[in-house]
Amino acid sequence: MIMSGSSLIRLEEVVQANPDAWFQAYLPGDEPSMIALVERVKAAGYRTLVVTVDANIASNRENNIRAGFSTPLRPSLSLAWEGITHPRWLFGTFLKTIARHGLPHFENNYARRGAPILSQNVLRDFSDRGHMNWNHFRMIRRLWPGHLVIKGILDVRDARLAVDSGADGIIVSNHGGRQLDGTVPPLRVLPGIVQACPEVPVMIDSGFRRGTDVLKAVALGAKFVFVGRPFNYAASVAGEDGVRKAIGLLREEVSRNMAMLGVNGLSELDASYLLPAHPVS
Ligand SMILES: Cc1cc2nc3c(=O)[nH]c(=O)nc-3n(C[C@H](O)[C@H](O)[C@H](O)COP(=O)(O)O)c2cc1C
Repeated sequence: MIMSGSSLIRLEEVVQANPDAWFQAYLPGDEPSMIALVERVKAAGYRTLVVTVDANIASNRENNIRAGFSTPLRPSLSLAWEGITHPRWLFGTFLKTIARHGLPHFENNYARRGAPILSQNVLRDFSDRGHMNWNHFRMIRRLWPGHLVIKGILDVRDARLAVDSGADGIIVSNHGGRQLDGTVPPLRVLPGIVQACPEVPVMIDSGFRRGTDVLKAVALGAKFVFVGRPFNYAASVAGEDGVRKAIGLLREEVSRNMAMLGVNGLSELDASYLLPAHPVS
């Protein structure tokens, strides 16, 4: 489980509940703030830091705009209507969160508390990383004693640079297709990255929905597959029980499909279980 740097609960609380959680950072735009954030994550007791590098500027998410979702959150009639017509969410999530924590803030973008979700400053907090380069990553490597994972790699040359700059693991990801339009599907570039970086675990996410999807990635050399939106959807439908159910479904699919492939362990899978796709002639 990776805790998002954009989350609204303090990272210190989460690591207490789950000492094995990883922390994902969106590094702040200036070096003193980066150093302070890394020190905070270290002091909280996390052992694995994930640095996301594919969201250096805000993308234009037209579906979010169409649905009326904005950052910062702007109170509007349609938002109020959505709240009134979803009482379980209004009382069970939104008002419960305010009662427990006050107005939600982005708690983990900096060493200090970030902006509240309604503040204009939120946009600045999310869009100030366009100048970052590999020297910043190497600096983090010097500061961080634990495992350092880089997330959002899609190119063999970047993967190699990351490992040569001290990454202990790579997550091949296109951010669920939510950043650069027309970007390559991570599965297509996975084998090349696995081959180029044999000394580190190569992991993957973006678009994994079924047990067979997971097995394909493992067969192509992925050591781990992460899932994003399916668990979000499950949480929004049925909270913690929903996420448990979604995990159970995926686990069953992986297990059943392994049986159908005649495979007893994931390590038995390799590319020989797949056929290259040929265009229909
Ligand atoms: C609502 C939402 C918020 C996200 N926030 C973050 C984030 O804070 N940090 C990050 O590294 N990735 C973030 N991502 C990307 C996910 O970590 C992950 O790469 C992606 O969702 C995987 O694709 P999938 O949703 O198709 O499984 C977010 C994705 C979604 C849908």
